[in-house]
Amino acid sequence: MATVFGNRWQVIDSLGEGGQGWVYRVRDTQTANDDAFVLKRLKNHSRLARFEREISAAIRLQHEGICQVVDFSLDSPAFLVMPFVSGKRLAEMGPVPPLEAMQLFSALCDIVHYAHQASVVHRDLKPDNILVRDDSQVVILDFGLCYFADEEERLTETMEQVGSRFYIAPELESGRATTVTAKADVYSLGKILYFLLSGKHLAREKLVGENDLVRINSDPQLEYVNRRILEPALAEAPQKRPDAAGLRRTAENVARLIREHYYPGIAGSQCRFCGDGHYQQLGHHVSLNVWENTHISGAQELVLVKCDSCGNVQWFTVKALK
Ligand SMILES: Nc1ncnc2c1ncn2[C@@H]1O[C@H](COP(=O)(O)OP(=O)(O)O)[C@@H](O)[C@H]1O
Ligand SMILES: [Mg+2]
Repeated sequence: MATVFGNRWQVIDSLGEGGQGWVYRVRDTQTANDDAFVLKRLKNHSRLARFEREISAAIRLQHEGICQVVDFSLDSPAFLVMPFVSGKRLAEMGPVPPLEAMQLFSALCDIVHYAHQASVVHRDLKPDNILVRDDSQVVILDFGLCYFADEEERLTETMEQVGSRFYIAPELESGRATTVTAKADVYSLGKILYFLLSGKHLAREKLVGENDLVRINSDPQLEYVNRRILEPALAEAPQKRPDAAGLRRTAENVARLIREHYYPGIAGSQCRFCGDGHYQQLGHHVSLNVWENTHISGAQELVLVKCDSCGNVQWFTVKALK
C-alpha cells in the first residue's frame, strides 16, 4: 500500500536522500489535480530545529526563487511539503558557458540579496541546494541552517559546522563565529560561480596563490571574473567582501564585457539582444578622439549594425586606429 503522510500526501517515488532528510515526490490526495509536490521527511527527530528554521524562512521569504512550504508536521515523523521544482540541480550542471554562468549567478545574487534584506542568512549555499527550473528560474532550497539576523543577536552555542567544506565561509568553520553576517553567503556565492564556470569545487587551499579558472577555460576573458568577482567575494575577512547586491552589479558589468568579447557585433554575428537574429552592417564611420580620457579614447573605427530579426541597432567599436 502506498505510504501517505499526514493523511494527505501520497508518495509517488523517492527522489533520494539529502543531508537531513529523505525526499519523496508526492501527490495531494485532497485535490483532484495531479500537481507534483516534494515531501522532505526528517531523518533524525532531534534535528527538528532545522525544520522549524526552514518553515519560518519559507513563511518570511516570499520570492519566486525561494521554495515555499505548503504543509508541514512537526510531530514524529516530521515532514514538510513543497511544490515540486522540475529542473536541474546546479550540482549536475557545471561547467556552463561564461555568459550563461553570469546570468545564473546574477539571478542567484538577486535572490540571496532579497533574503538578506529580510535578515535571513542561508549559511548553506552550494550547488546541491540550488535548482534551475525548466523555465530557467533559479530556485534556492534548504534553509534548514539559516540564521535570522534580527532574532539571534549572538550565537552562544557552538554550532555544528554548517555547510559543505568547499562552500562554507572561513568564519563559520568549526562553528567559530559568534556573529554571523550576510557576508558568509557572499563567500559561498563566489565558490558557486567558480563551480559554474569550471565544473569543479574550489578547495580553500587553492585560494592561496592563483586559482586555475583562466587555465581551465583557456579563456583570458575569465580573468575579469577572477579579479572583479571571485577575489573580492572570497576575501578571508568578511568585511572586505561586497554585499550580494554589489556582487550582482559587478556581475552585470562583467557579463557585458564577456558579451562584447564573445559577440563583438561585427556584421554576421549573433544579436546580443534577441540572440536569434544576426547583425547586418548599415554603415561605417571613423571618428577621431571620441570619448577622451576613457579606455576607448583615441581614434576609433566604428561600425553601425542592425539585427535582421529584432531590428536592434548598435554602434560597435571595431578596432583602435592608433
Ligand atoms: N522542491 C523540490 N523540487 C525538486 N527537488 C527537490 C525539492 N526539494 C528538494 N529536492 C531534491 O532533494 C535534494 C535534498 O533536498 P534538501 O532540501 O537540500 O534536503 P537536505 O536538507 O536533506 O539537504 C535536493 O538536492 C534536490 O535534489
Ligand atoms: Mg540540501
